[in-house]
Amino acid sequence: MKGILLAGGAGTRLHPITRATSKQLLPVYDKPLVYYPLSVLMLAGIRDVMVVTTPQDQDAFRRLLGDGRDVGLRLSFTVQPRPEGIAQALVLARPWLAGSPCTLVLGDNLFYGHGLPALLRRAAAQPSGATVFAYAVRDPERYGVVELGPDGRAVAIEEKPKAPRSRWAVTGLYVYDGDAPAIAAGLAPSARGELEITDVNRAYLRRGDLRVERLGRGFAWLDTGTPESLLQAAQFVQTLEERTGAKIACLEEIAWEQGWLGADDVRRAADAMGRSPYADYLRRLAEGEARR
Ligand code: DAU
Repeated sequence: MKGILLAGGAGTRLHPITRATSKQLLPVYDKPLVYYPLSVLMLAGIRDVMVVTTPQDQDAFRRLLGDGRDVGLRLSFTVQPRPEGIAQALVLARPWLAGSPCTLVLGDNLFYGHGLPALLRRAAAQPSGATVFAYAVRDPERYGVVELGPDGRAVAIEEKPKAPRSRWAVTGLYVYDGDAPAIAAGLAPSARGELEITDVNRAYLRRGDLRVERLGRGFAWLDTGTPESLLQAAQFVQTLEERTGAKIACLEEIAWEQGWLGADDVRRAADAMGRSPYADYLRRLAEGEARR
């Protein structure tokens, strides 16, 4: 299983904040936004990740993440010249995927909750098809929306419907078999000129191969699309981190728990960062003080 982290887009809803920097590099409390979705891929055990960025932001992502070695990953980078749709990421990654199944995550989606890695591993273990993760929200019309039948299977899936048929938003996390790039490449652009990820999911639904995992109320799926939601996400992370003393989406910690890094690597990562609270947390980890 390979991972795709989609971190392009124009970020116009956050202008002027995102005029000179990528949305996915903005801070969510103590770390860049992109750490949160990247941590989801890592928790699923995925080490090969392609990062898709805008042409102008690729250097900044490379400065932040390097080749991934410091967090136990093998990162590749590719550019999306224009924001022509989430599904275009599958087309861009197609040669690199070389037929492999993939987990695609949007670089601005923040997930928190016990059991997500198990759900992802279950999806990855399916021999074929696609899995999406649905979350009940108050304002489904802002998202892809899936209608579920009595057996919990998908009946219909629509992008930003004016009259949503359910409260189940489709989150920005998708697990696909090796067919997804070809499906995406065969799509026509939507009315807004994009290759829609919802159309990829609908293709799987039509062939009876779309699974929906519902993320229940024990999960948090947070939006970062507006100044308010970005601040709320930061406050959520701050609240949990201060209460528990453990960090959410600490990439080095996850890599260590996965057995990809050792204590010396974590210490080196801390030293490369200086004296930030994040670096001090890594030092405490390496010394064994912050371990549960
Ligand atoms: O967040 C989940 C939602 O994401 C889903 O429910 C929707 O079905 C899906 O279409 C998407 O909706 P959004 O309106 O949030 O998509 P947005 O255009 O904001 O793009 C989401 C992220 O993907 C954003 O951080 C930018 C990035 N992106 C987007 C497009 C269209 C790219 O990197 N390239 C693109 O071409």
